[in-house]
Amino acid sequence: MSSTRSTNITWHAGHIERADRERLLGQRGVTVWLTGLSGSGKSTIAVAAEAALVGRGRLAYVLDGDNVRHGLNRNLGFSPEDRTENIRRIGEVARLFTDAGVIVITSFISPYRADRDGARAIMAEGDFVEVHVDATLETCESRDVKGLYKKARAGEIPEFTGISAPYEAPVSPELVLDTNTKSVEESVEDLLGYLDKRG
Ligand code: ADX
Repeated sequence: MSSTRSTNITWHAGHIERADRERLLGQRGVTVWLTGLSGSGKSTIAVAAEAALVGRGRLAYVLDGDNVRHGLNRNLGFSPEDRTENIRRIGEVARLFTDAGVIVITSFISPYRADRDGARAIMAEGDFVEVHVDATLETCESRDVKGLYKKARAGEIPEFTGISAPYEAPVSPELVLDTNTKSVEESVEDLLGYLDKRG
């Protein structure tokens, strides 16, 4: 999956560089990679952070699991291999957006450490900010916003993260947002504070 199948292709550089685009936008491109269980609050935090950033005159853009799986990744399911390919594609898309100067906020369970590390590895140092949206399984299951945990417990959804498929928590993420105790507003404040601090 990681090899390139096309042959006779050459990389073509443009006349405009990332620094030119960043000057135009007055910001630095970055990928904020949210990871966490379904129902941990990733999407809620992502869209709230996007709105807060745009409100401050920053160009931010959310890439969200459920949405991307309707289009770009609609041919992928939830087997380990498909999740790996899901994250690989998102990593590549995030890299392109980051190069465009955008503040990308990705919202995917991204349960495998190796897949997240793979996304980090294709970006420049400092371009990838891993954020663990940390809520216990109990918290996520008690929220059960989409009713999926109930279905998973009933055996209606195979390979459901946290129930019948693994979630590998980050070992040293740049930031942890504990959504067991924090409100959405507090989490967004922490996230924006971190980005401010990092310039
Ligand atoms: S990932 O594991 O490949 O990163 P992704 O974030 O794209 O997952 O999609 C997760 C979303 O798909 C969940 O929020 C949930 O709404 C839905 N979903 C459907 N089936 C599953 C499953 N088996 N495991 C986890 N999420 C699922």
